Amino acid sequence: MTDQNLTGNLAAALTPTGLGSRPSSSTGPAAAPTDGPARVVIDLDLPGPTISRHIYGHFAEHLGRCIYGGFYVGEDSPIPNTRGIRNDVVEALRALRIPNLRWPGGCFADDYHWKDGIGPREDRPRMVNSHWGDIVEDNSFGTHEFMDLVELLGTEAYVNGNVGSGTVAEMSEWIEYLTRADDSPMASLRRQNGREEPWQVPFFGIGNEPWGCGGTMRAEDYAALARQYATYVRDHADNRVTRIAAGASDDDYEWTEALMRAAKNLEHPGGEAGPYQAISMHYYTMYGPWQDKGSATEFTEEEWYRTLSRAARAEELVARHATVMDHFDPHKKIGLVVDEWGTWWNVEPGTNPGFLYQQNTVRDALVAAIHFDGFHRHADRLLMANIAQTVNVLQAMVLTDPDSGALVLTPTYHVFAMNAGHKDARALAAHVLLPEEVQEVDGRLLPMVSASASLRPEDSTALVSLSNLSADAPRTLVLDLRGREVLGHEATVLTGASTAAHNTPEQPDAVAPAPLTDVRAHARGLELRLPPHSVATVSLQLGN
Ligand code: AHR
Repeated sequence: MTDQNLTGNLAAALTPTGLGSRPSSSTGPAAAPTDGPARVVIDLDLPGPTISRHIYGHFAEHLGRCIYGGFYVGEDSPIPNTRGIRNDVVEALRALRIPNLRWPGGCFADDYHWKDGIGPREDRPRMVNSHWGDIVEDNSFGTHEFMDLVELLGTEAYVNGNVGSGTVAEMSEWIEYLTRADDSPMASLRRQNGREEPWQVPFFGIGNEPWGCGGTMRAEDYAALARQYATYVRDHADNRVTRIAAGASDDDYEWTEALMRAAKNLEHPGGEAGPYQAISMHYYTMYGPWQDKGSATEFTEEEWYRTLSRAARAEELVARHATVMDHFDPHKKIGLVVDEWGTWWNVEPGTNPGFLYQQNTVRDALVAAIHFDGFHRHADRLLMANIAQTVNVLQAMVLTDPDSGALVLTPTYHVFAMNAGHKDARALAAHVLLPEEVQEVDGRLLPMVSASASLRPEDSTALVSLSNLSADAPRTLVLDLRGREVLGHEATVLTGASTAAHNTPEQPDAVAPAPLTDVRAHARGLELRLPPHSVATVSLQLGN
């Protein structure tokens, strides 16, 4: 096969799934000509690849009220804080045990010069945050504050470097400053600024969206820069970095192909890929033009289904980018990282359009659940995913009131909590057999049930995630559990009074997990009834 016809073959493998085709039963839901309730068939004795806990990763950008007001209020704030970092936000996220946090952007990353954010705060230069509200950034939250946050959260750092307007030397010095132990120039500078011990930085991003806000580059041009910059992101002391090349938007498979072609040491099973070990992609669930993406809280039934169909597309994109990667990297040395995903709606009325503050409803919870079901099915390639963004921006985990300071947990937060048992568990195939045809939505076939499952062999437990996508109909489901004895179960459900139900400081638990009581023994395993527009998890205690 010549290099020339590789693109053609890959293109053929990536022909878009049109209306009339559907995911195969081994990788996703399928219709089946059966009567009776829908079934989810799970072979409990066939564990697949490990689901990286980093798929439940997060993203915090200098954007709107994510960092300032969200994570960081400063030491003099009346809001209880630790060295300026909000205690309530830390507590909420510690409960989720978030595996990693990406920072400082996003588009902001390629404008950010890290040396402006170290040293005494009063001496730090200011800059313009040109992408997000065109406001002046005072750099009061910088490297030390971020690493302090990482330590308070008990998470791992994913630092995103600047390729668009930064230099190779700047990037090289940043990783030295962060991770070097001896008396090198950057390690000494860190000590002067009050931090004796180096930090651990396991993930480092080589720019962000270089095809757009990160430099308007062509794929091959960026691929060459990614090789160069990544080379200088060195492993210092005992720190080992996974370097993440900035990847494609949506279905730009040619971008992925260019990065895979430029990677080295993929032919043989041994040794690490270089100079980067992962590549990213971004995909947002949205519809409509940029000027009017629709309200977060007011939507029609048609928009509900259209949103869920767009969410289901995430799996198709992951699968196809992974297919390109498989072609060049059969030993799966390079990880795929979806380091920005989530819903993108119009900002809440009266808020700064550049701050991307949006409410979060049951619809967002379903979007998250559908993403995770798809992510679990691609655990063999997916190293990480980072929802955008953790606090007060886009599909957030927590929202804080700018006036009262009150904190609200979103429906999306609860999906992360309910799915926690999938982290580092072994993926199980969950075959969804629906008695009726899946619905046609927005030019795609959308099954009305989404599901995934995983197994923890070490403690003989399994976790099943189930979503009822129907806006208005409850769903009886049989969990057809094969291969292991089931000794006990515990089920939880998340829903609200309507598809648009959401939490506010006045009603913080309008959408909150509750025990799912409508579960009974069935000849095949368990039978349960899901309310309309709901997400459920069933945790199983297994015997032999
Ligand atoms: O998450 C908001 C923005 O979306 C990020 O800054 C950018 O990378 C993407 O376009």
